[in-house]
Amino acid sequence: MTKIRSVVLGCGSYLPGQVVTNAQLAARIDTSDEWIVQRTGIRERHIAAEGEFTSHLAIKAAQAALSDAGVDAQSIELIVLATSTPDNTFPATAVTVQNGLGIHHGAAFDLQAVCSGFVFALATADNFLRSGAYKRALVIGAETFSRILDWNDRGTCVLFGDGAGAVVLEAQEQAGKTADRGVLTTHLRSDGRHKAKLFVDGGPSSTQTVGHLRMEGREVFKHAVGMITDVIVDAFEATGLNADSIDWFVPHQANKRIIDASAHKLHIAPQKVVLTVDRHGNTSAASIPLALSVARKDGRIKRGDLVLLEAMGGGFTWGSALVRW
Ligand SMILES: CC(C)(COP(=O)(O)OP(=O)(O)OC[C@H]1O[C@@H](n2cnc3c(N)ncnc32)[C@H](O)[C@@H]1OP(=O)(O)O)[C@@H](O)C(=O)NCCC(=O)NCCS
Repeated sequence: MTKIRSVVLGCGSYLPGQVVTNAQLAARIDTSDEWIVQRTGIRERHIAAEGEFTSHLAIKAAQAALSDAGVDAQSIELIVLATSTPDNTFPATAVTVQNGLGIHHGAAFDLQAVCSGFVFALATADNFLRSGAYKRALVIGAETFSRILDWNDRGTCVLFGDGAGAVVLEAQEQAGKTADRGVLTTHLRSDGRHKAKLFVDGGPSSTQTVGHLRMEGREVFKHAVGMITDVIVDAFEATGLNADSIDWFVPHQANKRIIDASAHKLHIAPQKVVLTVDRHGNTSAASIPLALSVARKDGRIKRGDLVLLEAMGGGFTWGSALVRW
C-alpha cells in the first residue's frame, strides 16, 4: 500500500541588508555585548529597511526556495505563510506574496502561532498535501519583529531580528517508511493559560493600535525546555526513532541556552545542532526555515538526512516535526 508524503523539494531564505550588532544597541540603550551574548548567544541581527515589509522578505525567500527546488511558481497550489507581523491587519500577507510571485490560482493564507508558526504552517500544509487537496505548496515563515519592539525595553529589544525563510513541499506517493523522504510526523500544542507571559499589547479589536511586544522572560525560559522536549518525545514515539537517529536538530532560534538545555535533555550531540541565533537573533516564525537554508547551503543537511524541528512561542504554542530530507 502506498501513502502520500510531503517531500521537501527545496528551501531558501532572505535577510534584510542592515546588520545591527550588540555594540550598536549598547550605544543606544543600557545593555552590553557581554550581557546579551552570555544570556542569549545573540551577537547581531538583521533589521528591515524603511519601506521593506514582511511580504517583501517573504517573496525573496519564496523565490530562493523555488529556485533551489527547480520548480516554476505556477506549479504552486497552496501558500501557507506564518507571521505575527503581517503587512496589514488584512488581507493576509500570503495573498500579497502569491500576487508578487505571479500566482493567481490555488489558495494562500496566513497562520499565526508566533514563534511556533513555521512548525504549525508545515503541519498544516502537510495535512493538505496528504489529503490529496493540493500537490505542491510553499510554506513560508516571514517576520519584521523590529516593528513591534519597544526599543526602550532592553529586556526584549535585544532579542529579536527580521528575516524570512521558505520551503517547497510536494505530495509524493511512496511506501511511507521512516527511511522514505518527507515529513514523517508533526505534533502541535498550545495552552492559552500562558498568554500573558509573551504577547503584544495592542491589536485591531482591543486597542486599534499595533502594540509592542511584552514578555516575562524568566517565565518563558522556565517553561521552554519542558515543552520542547515533550513534543520531541511525542515525535520519537510516533515514529520509533530516537535522538541517535537524528542527523540534524534545527530548533527555533530564540536563545542558545534554551537550545543547549533542550539538546542536552534529549541526548542530542552538540555537533548535530544547527545554530544561527548568534547571527540572526530570534526571527520568530522565520527562524527555522532560515536555519534550514543556512545548513543546506553550507552542505550540512543532505538528501536522506533525518532533520528534527521544534519551536515554542507566545500563547504558549509549541510543536515538533521530523523530516526525512
Ligand atoms: C530575556 C532573558 C535573556 C533575560 O535573562 P534573565 O537572566 O532571565 O534576566 P532577568 O530578566 O531576570 O534580568 C536580570 C537583570 O538583567 C537586566 N537586564 C535585562 N535585560 C538586559 C539587557 N538587555 N542588558 C543588560 N541588562 C539587562 C534586568 O533589568 C535585571 O536587572 P536587575 O537584576 O537589576 O533587576 C531570559 O529570561 C530569556 O532568554 N528568556 C526567554 C526569552 C525568549 O526566548 N523568548 C522568546 C521565546 S519564543
